[in-house]
Amino acid sequence: MTDSMRIIPMKDIDYGTPARESATQVTLTIDGRSVTVPEGTSVMRAAAEAGISVPKLCATDHLEAFGSCRLCAVEIEGRRGTPASCTTPVAPGMAVWTQTDRLARLRRGVMELYISDHPLDCLTCAANGDCELQDMAGTVGLREVRYGYDGENHRAAAKDESNPYFAFDPSKCIVCSRCVRACDEVQGTLALTIDGRGFASKVSPGALESFMDSECVSCGACVQACPTATLTEKSVIQLGQPEHSVITTCAYCGVGCSFKAEMKGTTVVRMVPWKDGGANEGHSCVKGRFAWGYATHKDRRTQPMIRETTADPWRVVSWNEAISYAARRLKAVQEKHGRNAIGGITSSRTTNEEVYVVQKMIRAAFGNNNVDTCARVCHSPTGYGLKQAFGTSAGTQDFRSVDHADVILVIGANPTDGHPVFGSRMKQRIRKGAKLIVVDPRRIDLVRSPHVEAAHHLQLRPGTNVAVLNALAHVIVTEDLVDHAFVAERCDPADFAQWAAFAAEPRNSPEAVAEACGVPAGELRAVARLYATGGNAAIYYGLGVTEHSQGSTSVMAMANLAMATGNIGRPGVGVNPLRGQNNVQGSCDMGSFPHELTGYRDVADEAVRRQFEAVWNAALDPVPGLRIPNMFDEAVHGSFKGLYVQGEDIAQSDPNTQHVHAALQAMEVVIVQDLFLNETAAFAHVFLPGTSFLEKDGTFTNAERRINRVRPAMPPKTGKHEWQIPCELATAMGYPMHYDDASRIMDEIAAVTPTFRGVGFATLDRLGSVQWPCNEEAPEGTPIMHAEAFVRGKGQFVVTEYVPTPEQASRFYPLILTTGRILSHYNVGAQTRRTANVAWHPEDILEIHAHDAEQRGIRDGDLVSLASRIGATTLKARVSDRMPQGVVYTTFHHPVTGANVVTTENSDWATQCPEYKVTAVQVTRSNQPADWQRKHAAVIETVAAE
Ligand code: SF4
Ligand code: SF4
Ligand code: SF4
Ligand code: FES
Repeated sequence: MTDSMRIIPMKDIDYGTPARESATQVTLTIDGRSVTVPEGTSVMRAAAEAGISVPKLCATDHLEAFGSCRLCAVEIEGRRGTPASCTTPVAPGMAVWTQTDRLARLRRGVMELYISDHPLDCLTCAANGDCELQDMAGTVGLREVRYGYDGENHRAAAKDESNPYFAFDPSKCIVCSRCVRACDEVQGTLALTIDGRGFASKVSPGALESFMDSECVSCGACVQACPTATLTEKSVIQLGQPEHSVITTCAYCGVGCSFKAEMKGTTVVRMVPWKDGGANEGHSCVKGRFAWGYATHKDRRTQPMIRETTADPWRVVSWNEAISYAARRLKAVQEKHGRNAIGGITSSRTTNEEVYVVQKMIRAAFGNNNVDTCARVCHSPTGYGLKQAFGTSAGTQDFRSVDHADVILVIGANPTDGHPVFGSRMKQRIRKGAKLIVVDPRRIDLVRSPHVEAAHHLQLRPGTNVAVLNALAHVIVTEDLVDHAFVAERCDPADFAQWAAFAAEPRNSPEAVAEACGVPAGELRAVARLYATGGNAAIYYGLGVTEHSQGSTSVMAMANLAMATGNIGRPGVGVNPLRGQNNVQGSCDMGSFPHELTGYRDVADEAVRRQFEAVWNAALDPVPGLRIPNMFDEAVHGSFKGLYVQGEDIAQSDPNTQHVHAALQAMEVVIVQDLFLNETAAFAHVFLPGTSFLEKDGTFTNAERRINRVRPAMPPKTGKHEWQIPCELATAMGYPMHYDDASRIMDEIAAVTPTFRGVGFATLDRLGSVQWPCNEEAPEGTPIMHAEAFVRGKGQFVVTEYVPTPEQASRFYPLILTTGRILSHYNVGAQTRRTANVAWHPEDILEIHAHDAEQRGIRDGDLVSLASRIGATTLKARVSDRMPQGVVYTTFHHPVTGANVVTTENSDWATQCPEYKVTAVQVTRSNQPADWQRKHAAVIETVAAE
């Protein structure tokens, strides 16, 4: 029995102040009841934990107590006055009274003052029924307001509706400062202040700016914290209060935030981050909190479509017709060109269960291992590198671990934009004293933002990660900063000796590599010393590490550093990939790679294959299949003819767009399963509509290996669960596949995957979420891996020779382009471009250093041509002090920019992950779009018109 809806009470219990951890317990009495709580707990929280509710307005349990409203006053025997219970810590033997005549008078007086300056439009207010001021007026028994409403007040204060998602109505503000503290303590942006004093005090974004003009990043923490209707979601203003909620998981990034989808029937009213969410603990970013409107966007396709050729118009058909047509065409290709002429790509945006059935369909029904996943183009080097070093293809820590880090090394990642909720957590830790090292060619926000400053920013040349990491290793070895006890106990001694000798070679010294890397030797030495000796040191990295010709080498080089300094296997340390898409970890775990079945077990291993063959009742091919780039190459050469693509816009997201388009054009059948007619659909013959996360029933696995439930807030708009589509296609191809519901798929995954043996929907409903491995040895999961021993036994040091990428700047292409993403958009933007998030980033921009711009006569806002050896495109330039000289940067969120028109086919030596991060380019002024952009605009218009 599983709980596919998980409808929970609309209002969470608010304990008033945060929980405290202490080995010392304190016993006191509250209203005559004996209560025992950890030392440091507030009287208010102790009361709430005993079921006694003390009135409050300025306190809430995700913010530190502030003590401004005075509503929570209590009487304590032996103490004078009426102290605020939110700011008073418990003491042994304390006797507290929360309800006395004196307190009742006091509280009514406080409420009277608030209400005398409040517009009493409760019946038409958007927060009616969800307003703490209203609740407190009732709680304290306010019956009259003696002061009248004629004097000076704030009731005519102007609204700020500049933010697309929430409104600010200062006439309703009680200046409790919860919003200001949320922006500071939870989000860490400090966009809000209380301006003025006494009666004149008011909340202000920035220096009396509007929300849109301020530093606000629209995370929604202030809106959630506001006890009145002052800060309210526009969707609530429009739709009214929700009536039930469903716990589910964000479908954007690898942080995997849990949300309460607050609903009215089958309409989402708002998404509220869930306090008990293991990854986010009640926080969110603009995407998960607000950018869910794409799920019901008019562009969404909900009916299957087919066509003979890509020149024909699409024809809407029934599911049965679409499935049998797709099966017929795939079988025809196999009959003509052989069993291996078809394959498929799984999606990291779909659930584990949906990925699992797609790879099963390919292996069992297509009869080959031609399955790959979009992780190929992002974190495949993580899978390879961490498996080599530690024995498992996943990050080592949970997110909470960063709270114990003393040194945080961020390399090739931009957490405040790419993984914002974790970025906020990291910032809080840095503000509490952890030292930050940033290794990135671009000055990301973390380098310097309010109350956060990196101790070191190594602004290296793109493509030199391995040289930098080897230089750090050199210092650690030659200055004897190695944790010899850890290495002796936990690692392979022969590998270590070989690696240490390599690292110590003079050619790896900071002085030898400084010029190539563009980083002063002194900085490299200082960073190595800090990492090795600064206490708990944790590495967090992203695509700026993996998407290189030496991506896998860099991952192993980081693992070497962690093992050499003993920074692995406990809280506060580790090597942690910040995964891109919501389920990229899961899609890899689920057997999406051509050489591996679920749990990263080799398809060539007969014992492993036999296990699957017994459960699947199918013979499996022992030969690993084609990777995505091989599929494209073989399509161009004429031997790969049919592709099934699930939720992945390869025509836009993969490198060397022209080559990808040529490959797709050369195929005889392309099947696209997606929410929208994306760029790839222009080459497709069958379109199978998919479901949004709001319709899905299943699980996502985040960057910390946390398996979160995804629960349907509404029925599938397509009339079919997405996992049913591959099942029916496989059946139509002659391999029967059927499940009663998604939980049965997870049961099968658990049966065939040792690290998932204890996972099931019932377990997830009980625990909230669980981090794999979850099995007999770890029934409640494994937050931190490799605690006693590495999964592979002894940790393996690998010699990481630096081999410069062939992609070098030249006279014709003197600049290096690197790419990344920004907070408001996600990946190719298919979802976020269909929301109001476009208000923040309507187009991709090329960031360029002032000197490089000046040399080319480029001014801020000019249209420029960006040309590489592969192709050219046109976009606007921004002169930016974030960039070092010689390096330019852009995002790839808008198809019309086509950043991947210029990226090359260079790729990681081990995994073929494309080298998106290094492309030699020239930038010149331009006055017109590139040719392909003009043609592309016509394609977009055609797709939109269909
Ligand atoms: S939305 Fe977030 S960033 Fe903006 S003011 Fe509120 S808390 Fe601060
Ligand atoms: S906007 Fe809301 S949270 Fe902020 S001070 Fe006013 S009432 Fe309090
Ligand atoms: S941080 Fe990631 S998972 Fe969390 S709300 Fe934002 S996009 Fe969603
Ligand atoms: S809730 Fe304690 S002073 Fe406001």
